[in-house]
Amino acid sequence: MSLQGKRIVVGLGGGIAAFKAVELVRELMRRGAEVRVVMTDAARRFVGPITFAGLTGKPPVTDLWAEDYAGEVHVELGEWADAVVIAPATMNLMARAANGHADDVVLATLACAKGQVFFAPAMHSRMWSHPAMQRNAEALTRSGAVLLGPVIGPLASGEIGLGRMMEPVEIADGVETHLAHAKDLEGVRLLISAGPTHEDLDPVRFIGNRSSGRMGYAIAAQALRRGAEVTIVSGPVHIPPPSGAEVVQVWSARQMHEAIMSRFDAFDVVVMAAAVADYRPHRRAGQKIKKGENLQIELVRNPDILADLGAKRAQRPAVLVGFALETENLEQAAREKLVKKAADLIVANEAGAGLGGDTNRAVLVEAGSSTPLPQMSKRALADQILDRIRVLLHQAAHRQGREAERDAPN
Ligand code: CTP
Repeated sequence: MSLQGKRIVVGLGGGIAAFKAVELVRELMRRGAEVRVVMTDAARRFVGPITFAGLTGKPPVTDLWAEDYAGEVHVELGEWADAVVIAPATMNLMARAANGHADDVVLATLACAKGQVFFAPAMHSRMWSHPAMQRNAEALTRSGAVLLGPVIGPLASGEIGLGRMMEPVEIADGVETHLAHAKDLEGVRLLISAGPTHEDLDPVRFIGNRSSGRMGYAIAAQALRRGAEVTIVSGPVHIPPPSGAEVVQVWSARQMHEAIMSRFDAFDVVVMAAAVADYRPHRRAGQKIKKGENLQIELVRNPDILADLGAKRAQRPAVLVGFALETENLEQAAREKLVKKAADLIVANEAGAGLGGDTNRAVLVEAGSSTPLPQMSKRALADQILDRIRVLLHQAAHRQGREAERDAPN
């Protein structure tokens, strides 16, 4: 009963998966939620309002102009709900929501929603992969909505593809997880580095790496959702930052070092998710290097930002998190880094498990424990990392309290 006391609006779009919304409403109620249903006209072609009336004890709202409502029903529901879950979310409904349309009761309720908004997309795989759909999905995510699915499976057409709606139990799980995390990082100030660094050889060439910035940006996005204040110090990447984050753009490791060292003392947590280049060319040529015989480039060490933060002792951030990318002896190497760089947590990735993609597999290495995690989305991994950071913050606050007590004159 972990949705006990939560108020949830389930909004139905018109798709064949609408029948599964019946099961979703039952599942949410089974977990303790109070549920109200809103439906588009198209949804009513697939499933009857009477079914939901029977389940929830309240007639679903199907019409903005319903005469049995004295006030504005969409404003009332938007205010009332801790969460609005759109299932099934059709291509049309998502496009209209992404563009701020509000001419039916589902869209108008979404526009007024004060709580967390979820979409469970359901459509043919070609519709899901359509560039317009992807743009709209991204816009909805950037405005704070959470997408649950779609998943790969049999579609209404009989084909198998990515576009099938998540199963009701999984949707309920997603809603529950997100609501449980809601705002548990309020008041926490988090500085996070992300992406690669580029080390210039000459005005047109650089040495870089394949980091996409996705892992760091996912941590930033989840931290924002959970109420943290977030600043991203970002190397050059091709993905948009989550809305609400302050972004400081840098290019090289030395710029990143400067950006972080001049700011860190205003933060409680620093996460070094950037793939910082360990070396840079000794000299940056003023003009484009012309080709000749073989070329030798001398590389010199870059500053180690994580180690420099760890060495700050008293003024260091309460929680310091690093990443480690290893090809062998994953855990042992991560543990060595934990000690050498005086970090509180090292997120250890097997090389190849995450670089550039949307999923990642990691082991969370701390002084007293290691937690191997299964392969999961970068967003889910971000939440796991933030869960640990929350525990470490509590421990640090405890430690500080004890030290203050010890040092206080009696
Ligand atoms: N890091 C850093 N500054 C650097 C290099 C790395 O702050 N100049 C940070 C990374 O952001 C990451 C962690 O240190 O959080 C681990 O980086 P990695 O390059 O794997 O570790 P190294 O100590 O450089 O060890 P090696 O390259 O020998 O494995």
